[in-house]
Amino acid sequence: MTEVSAPPAAPDAAARAALGRLRTEVGKAVIGQDAVVTGLVIALLCRGHVLLEGVPGVAKTLLVRTLAASLDLDMKRLQFTPDLMPGDVTGSLIFDARTAAFEFREGPVFTNLLLADEINRTPPKTQASLLEVMEERQVSVEGEPRRLPEPFVTIATQNPVEYEGTYPLPEAQLDRFLLKINVPLPSRDEELGVLRAHHGGFDPRDLKAAGVTPVAGAADLAAGRAAAQRVAVADPVLTYVVDLCRATRVSPSLELGASPRGATALLAAAKAWAWLTGRDYVTPDDVKALARPTLRHRVRLRPEAELEGVTTDAVLDAVLATVPTPR
Ligand SMILES: Nc1ncnc2c1ncn2[C@@H]1O[C@H](COP(=O)(O)OP(=O)(O)O)[C@@H](O)[C@H]1O
Ligand SMILES: [Mg+2]
Repeated sequence: MTEVSAPPAAPDAAARAALGRLRTEVGKAVIGQDAVVTGLVIALLCRGHVLLEGVPGVAKTLLVRTLAASLDLDMKRLQFTPDLMPGDVTGSLIFDARTAAFEFREGPVFTNLLLADEINRTPPKTQASLLEVMEERQVSVEGEPRRLPEPFVTIATQNPVEYEGTYPLPEAQLDRFLLKINVPLPSRDEELGVLRAHHGGFDPRDLKAAGVTPVAGAADLAAGRAAAQRVAVADPVLTYVVDLCRATRVSPSLELGASPRGATALLAAAKAWAWLTGRDYVTPDDVKALARPTLRHRVRLRPEAELEGVTTDAVLDAVLATVPTPR
């Protein structure tokens, strides 16, 4: 009898395992919110930006800080305030008296992972400076472009726009975010877990003490990204993505449907998710799972629908229920 040795590990299996450990690592500080962590990892794999929305106090900031501490990447946090200026985001020219010349001082966007915290507390001009670099991945100084590091991913947090004293992001630019992830309130059990941790001495400001260390890095993300790009998509599944997006454009509840850019985002996110779960092909369920976070910020409700209390997610659910699923 010949001995059958185990097949050699696929080159991307180590990257998947490393990224899988992120969940446990983030869990050392954040109770629950698994779907949010998964969404953030998908975005990192796609090098896509994320908008995290949730009421104050559901650990949006803590979650991103912990994810960053679990990754071997450069991270900067920028708290958006009413008086923040565009130069505070991108950087500015500083006069150096010794050399009698202007020098560029890099702003916080020169990093791998930018936490743009409470982005809707800053006026439109400063928001626009961030949205522009998110798209172009460079900062122009006196006509000279300076490239941002690779990867460069922004995770922006915002409170739901009903909150007073906030500036909603310009709708036309929202599709610069790959995903919009809603951060829900915890379940009763999870909230009990949060209290137990705090009662036991957990300090959210001291992630080191909580034992959070880097378990994955840029190389894992690059390997995962390359592997996700190779994930197969059968023609009926590709058509399904297109048909879902087209259906949003004719929905009677929407005045603006998803753009082709939205369709490409859904495809990329579904491929990354398929790879993360260990498959080398996309299923219709992968597409369904990513449809809401990739499309919810790219469609606009008709005012009548909004008045009736219809939500974007409900409309997307209806679209998912109507468009035939390929088998
Ligand atoms: N799911 C959770 N797991 C652990 N701590 C939590 C959780 N939800 C809330 N907390 C606690 O509440 C605090 C508020 O979190 P924070 O990140 O500032 O919220 P947000 O940015 O959403 O306003 C955290 O620092 C932590 O002490
Ligand atoms: Mg916060």
